[in-house]
Amino acid sequence: MRMVLMGPPGSGKGTRAHIISDLYGIPVVTTGDMLREAVRDETEFGKIAGKYMSKGDLVPDKIVNGIVRERMMKPDVQDGFILDGFPRSKTQADALDAILDELGIELTHVLFVVLSDDVIIQRLSKRRSCPKCGAVYHLESAPPKQKGVCDVCGAQLIQRDDDKEEVIRHRLEVYRELTEPLLERYGSRGLIVETSGEVAIDELSAYLKALLG
Ligand code: AP5
Repeated sequence: MRMVLMGPPGSGKGTRAHIISDLYGIPVVTTGDMLREAVRDETEFGKIAGKYMSKGDLVPDKIVNGIVRERMMKPDVQDGFILDGFPRSKTQADALDAILDELGIELTHVLFVVLSDDVIIQRLSKRRSCPKCGAVYHLESAPPKQKGVCDVCGAQLIQRDDDKEEVIRHRLEVYRELTEPLLERYGSRGLIVETSGEVAIDELSAYLKALLG
């Protein structure tokens, strides 16, 4: 399986990516996590990326395309992958096509998660994330076993800077303007599998297995 996960911010892409990864034994490539790591490590790219991310704007294509290209050349993605958060613009979709051409492979699925803006804002304002391993929680629908602590790696959970309502609304605008048009491109290739963002988390594994086969 070689999948791109698409959908508005907060629709549940990351949650699904980790479930699909466990189901099919393939790695998740999450540009948001890779960029947040670069910001934390204060790398040259991280210093630039942080300025865009805190406002809810896309990080420049040149930086993101470079990071993804480097990751996609690693051996563990050659037998399948889930791209979460990439591509997000026409330039990025062109870059992905070029990378896949170079590797001699094609996408098999574009999983598109559909969810209303009201539910998205409610979900993101109560999301808590693990800065170390990328695990995602929700204060009500998916709380950690111990308050404030990651179940997977024990790190202290955080609220992301871009999970404030005004930044979430801007991220939704950016999504509609730059990312949503890619649905047409992948639709014309017959790759889109549409899925509701409303399916309860504890039902997702069985639901996705039935949907994806
Ligand atoms: P990124 O980290 O990719 O964020 P995003 O796409 O905005 O998506 P999110 O991570 O916010 O949400 P999600 O859809 O994964 O939902 P989740 O599963 O967490 O990007 C952040 C920033 O990085 C961008 O704004 C940009 O600046 C930069 N960036 C990243 N990629 C880039 C690129 N390619 N180019 C340029 N810039 C880039 O779920 C949300 C919440 O809902 C969680 O709390 C979860 O527990 C809960 N939840 C999920 N499913 C359910 C359910 N079924 N029922 C109840 N609650 C649920």
